[in-house]
Amino acid sequence: MKIAIANDHAATQMKKDIVAYLEEKGYEVVNFGTDGDASVDYPEYGCKAAEAVASGECEQGVLICGTGIGISLAANKVPGIRAAAVSEPVSARLCKEHNNANIIAFGARIVGLEEAKAIVDAFLTASFLGGRHQRRVDMITEIEKKYSR
Ligand code: RB5
Repeated sequence: MKIAIANDHAATQMKKDIVAYLEEKGYEVVNFGTDGDASVDYPEYGCKAAEAVASGECEQGVLICGTGIGISLAANKVPGIRAAAVSEPVSARLCKEHNNANIIAFGARIVGLEEAKAIVDAFLTASFLGGRHQRRVDMITEIEKKYSR
């Protein structure tokens, strides 16, 4: 499975650790940066990874900023993206099972590395349950279409 990953300056080290962790597990990871500690703007990086997921270049995405919030908000502006900002593994599993999230986001200033690993594990190994959840996800898509120019 090909995973898009991106982060801002608040999360560079955690991103590097998560890339190594995912590659160890056999995932192919496409890194959209940033790879330095200089201050950058999270919407730029969140957008790049979100576009890779929306286009089908990558199947899933992982976004990390200070809180996970700003970068997920930016990603959610890309049509077709359902990015969920979480801080523990149960929500990471449920956002895939119920909401068919295609990007998981979390904060390097909020969760430690072991919790971050548990979050990506829970997200990437879960599957969308469909059924009644499909109708609701379709409703989200309809809202997106309603406001698309
Ligand atoms: C950067 O200081 C910080 O605002 C950013 O990483 C993120 O937490 C925004 O949501």
